[in-house]
Amino acid sequence: PENAFRDTFGRVHTYLRISLTERCNLRCLYCMPEEGVQLSPKGNLLTTEEVIRLTRLFASHGVNKVRLTGGEPTLRKDLVDIVHQISNIDGIEDIGLTTNGLMLSKHVMALREAGLTKVNVSLDTLRQDRYIEMCRRNGLGKVLESIKATESLYPYVKINVVVMRGKNDDEIMDFVRMTQARRIDVRFIEFMPFGGNHFNQGHFVSYGEVMQRIKDEFGEENVCKLTELPNDTAKSYKIRGFTGQFGFISSMSDHFCFTCNRLRITADGNLKVCLHGNAEVNLRDLMRLDESDEKLSEVIQSAVTRKKAKHAGYRHGEFEEPPKSTDDSDRRIIT
Ligand code: GTP
Ligand code: 5AD
Ligand code: SF4
Repeated sequence: PENAFRDTFGRVHTYLRISLTERCNLRCLYCMPEEGVQLSPKGNLLTTEEVIRLTRLFASHGVNKVRLTGGEPTLRKDLVDIVHQISNIDGIEDIGLTTNGLMLSKHVMALREAGLTKVNVSLDTLRQDRYIEMCRRNGLGKVLESIKATESLYPYVKINVVVMRGKNDDEIMDFVRMTQARRIDVRFIEFMPFGGNHFNQGHFVSYGEVMQRIKDEFGEENVCKLTELPNDTAKSYKIRGFTGQFGFISSMSDHFCFTCNRLRITADGNLKVCLHGNAEVNLRDLMRLDESDEKLSEVIQSAVTRKKAKHAGYRHGEFEEPPKSTDDSDRRIIT
C-alpha cells in the first residue's frame, strides 16, 4: 500500500517479528550465558492487547506476515489467544512461530486451530549428551516429539540448526539425512554475534564450508538448488530423490540485508529495524500515553527511514564487534 513502511533503500517491510518474552527454558551456548540475562520488569512487557494493537497497526501498513519469537514464545500463557486474535486481523496471511520445541507438542494442535500457519523449531544436535551440553538443559526427547507432532499437522516443519565448530559440526550429515523421507526443511545457520552470547570466531563455520562438506558427502551432482523465494533468509537445496530440503542462513558470510523486509518488536515493546541494531523507539510507552495510531505510525516510519543498508557484523572478511547499544537492549534476548 501507499503507506507501507519503506526505507531510504526502497525496502518495503511486510514481515513483523514479535518477541513475546525474554524468558527461555534453555540456555543455549550461542544465545545466552549460563546465568541467563537481565529480564525486563514484568510490567514492561507488552500485554496481549498491546501486541494485537501493534499488529493491527502494522497490518494496516502492509505487513502480511507475523512471526512470534522470544526468548521462548511458548512460555507466554496467552500464546494461543494471541495467535487467534492475530489470525483475525485483516491482511495477515501468515503467522509463524519460532520455538525450541520443548513445550510445543502439548500446544501444537490448539495453535493450529487458532490459525498458526508455520512452525520453525530450533534444534542443534540429535545426540542426548550434546543437547545437554549445548542447551544446558535436558529436553531432546520432547523436541523430537514436538517435531513429529508438527509434521502430522503441517505440510512441512523447518528445523533451525546453528552450526558451531567443535560442538555440532560433525552432525551436519545426520541433519541432511533427516530430510530423506520426511517433510522437513533443515536450515544451517551461521553463528552470529549478539550482545550477551560471548561470540567466539573459533566456533564460526561459514555456509560455504558446510555446503562443500555436503557436496563431498552426497556428490555435487546430487545437490540440487531450489528456486529462491523473494525475501527469504535461506538459500535452499535438496538432495536428489529426498522428500525434504535443506538450506543455509548465511547472515555473516553472505548477508541478505539488501532484501530485508523485516521489522522487530521486542518483548518490552521497542521497535528494532535491524536484528543487529539498537532498539529504536519505545512503542509501549507511546501506547500507554494514549498516543494515536497516526502518531505511532509516524514514529515507526521515522525509525524505518533511519534503517541502515546492512548490519555491521562482518566487513571486508573480518568480524567486527557487534554494535553497542545506547541502552541495555542488546543484553536482552531477541532473534
Ligand atoms: P521464515 O519465516 O520461515 O523464513 O523464518 P526466518 O528464517 O525468517 O526466521 P527464524 O525465526 O526461523 O530464524 C532463523 C534464523 O534466521 C535465526 O538465526 C534468526 O536470527 C535469523 N534471522 C531471521 N530474521 C533475520 C533477519 O532479519 N536478519 C538476520 N541477519 N537474521 C535473521
Ligand atoms: N547465531 C545464530 N542464530 C542464533 N539463534 C539464536 N542465537 C543465535 C546466534 N547467536 C537462532 C536460534 C533460533 C533462531 C530464532 O535464532 O537457533 O533458531
Ligand atoms: Fe535485515 Fe538487519 Fe537482518 Fe540485515 S541484519 S537482514 S538489515 S534485520
